[in-house]
Amino acid sequence: MKGAEVVKLGIKTLDDIEFRGKVAIVRPDFNVPIDPITKVIKDDSRIRSHAKTIKELIDKGAKVVIIAHQGRPGEPDFSESLEEHAKRLSEILNKPVKYVHDLFGEEARRAIRELKTGEVLVLKNVRTYPYETKKLSAEEHARTEMVEILSSLADVFILDGFSVAHRSHASVVGFTRKLPSCMGRVMERELEALSRIFEHPEKPCICILGGAKAEKGTKAIENLLRKKIADKILLGGLIGQLFLVASNVDLGRPNIEFLKRKNIYECLPKAVELNKEFKESIELPVDVAVEINGLRRELEVKELPTDYPIYDIGTKTAHKYANIVKTAKSVLVSGPLGVYEKDEFIKGTEIVFRAIAESKVFSLAGGGDTLAALKKIDLYDKFTYVSLAGGAFVEYITGSKLPGIEALKSAVT
Ligand code: 3PG
Repeated sequence: MKGAEVVKLGIKTLDDIEFRGKVAIVRPDFNVPIDPITKVIKDDSRIRSHAKTIKELIDKGAKVVIIAHQGRPGEPDFSESLEEHAKRLSEILNKPVKYVHDLFGEEARRAIRELKTGEVLVLKNVRTYPYETKKLSAEEHARTEMVEILSSLADVFILDGFSVAHRSHASVVGFTRKLPSCMGRVMERELEALSRIFEHPEKPCICILGGAKAEKGTKAIENLLRKKIADKILLGGLIGQLFLVASNVDLGRPNIEFLKRKNIYECLPKAVELNKEFKESIELPVDVAVEINGLRRELEVKELPTDYPIYDIGTKTAHKYANIVKTAKSVLVSGPLGVYEKDEFIKGTEIVFRAIAESKVFSLAGGGDTLAALKKIDLYDKFTYVSLAGGAFVEYITGSKLPGIEALKSAVT
C-alpha cells in the first residue's frame, strides 16, 4: 500500500515526516512469548520486525522513545519490566538501548529530556498504568495523565504495531490526538499485504478458515462473501464442525457437547443462515479424523455420528481443499484446520498449508494459532506474507474497523 493507497487511507508514513532532532514516541508490539518464571524471551520475531522501523528512525536522526506492553496484568506472561526487551533490541540493532523502569514519572521524563539524536529509550510496561486498558475513546485517552505528560515531551507519534491496533488503549489511540502521527513500516507492510486480499484480490480468491473463534469466524465468512472478496471459503476446525451441524450433520454427543461448552453452538443460527445464503461458496469437510485410544482414525461425514472427539479434517477433505487451492490466485488463511498441537492431528492442516506454500499464489496468513501451526510444520517462510498479528488480524477480516487505524486516519497534523 504505497503512495496513492496510503494517501487514500489518509495515514502518513515515515516518508512524510521530518525526524531530525525530534522526540518520536513509537508504539510497537513487543508482546512476545516469554518464560513465565525467568522472563527470558523465547521468540523475538516481533522485536526483530519493529527494529527495522526503529533503525530507520535512528538513521533519520530521531530520538526514539518506545512505549510497549508485555502480557496482561495477572497472567503468567506479564512482566512489569521491559528491560529484557530493551536488551534484545540493543543486540538486534547492535547499539546501546536505554531502559528506565518508569513510565511518565520523574525518571522517565529526565531520560527523555536527556536523549540525544539517534538514541533509543524503552519505558516500563505501559500496562502497569491502569488507564492504559480502560475502554475509552481516543479523545478521553488523550486526556489521561500518561498521554498528557509524554506528549508534552515529544514531537511525533508512530504507531507500528498493527497487532495492537484492535485495542482502543491509551498508548495506541491517545497520542494521535496530541501529536502529528504516522504509521511505522511494520504497520505499513501489514496493511499493504491485507490490501492485496481486501482491496483488490486477485481472483479466484480462496479463504481457509479454521480454529475455534466461532463468533468472529461467522462474521468473517459473512464479510468475505457479502463483499465478494472470497470466491470460496474452505472450512475446518471447530468452525467447520459448526457449519456441518448447520447443514444437518449429527456429529455425535461428545462433539456437540464440546461445541456447547466452548460457546460455539450459540452461533448456530448465524451458521444456518450463511450456509443457506452462500451454499455454493462454502466448502465443508467430507471426512473427519477422530481420536480413538490416542490414535487417529478417519470417518466419512456420512458415517457420523461418532462417540469419539473430532480433532481434524480427514485426508480426503485435505486433498480436496489442496486441489481447490491450486486453482486460486490469492489465498487467505485464518486458523488451523484441526488440533495441530497433537502430532496425529496436524495432518489436515499440513496438507492444505503445504499445497499453499508450494503454489505460486499470493498467500496471506494470520492469527496466533495459524502462526504456531506454520512454525510447527516449518512453513512460516514459505507463505508470501505472514501477519505478526493475532487478535487484530482476526478482527480485521471480520470487516470491523480497528481503533488504532481509525485514530491514525484522524490524527492531528
Ligand atoms: C497480541 O499479542 O495479540 C497483542 O500484543 C495484543 O495483546 P492483547 O490481546 O493482550 O491485547
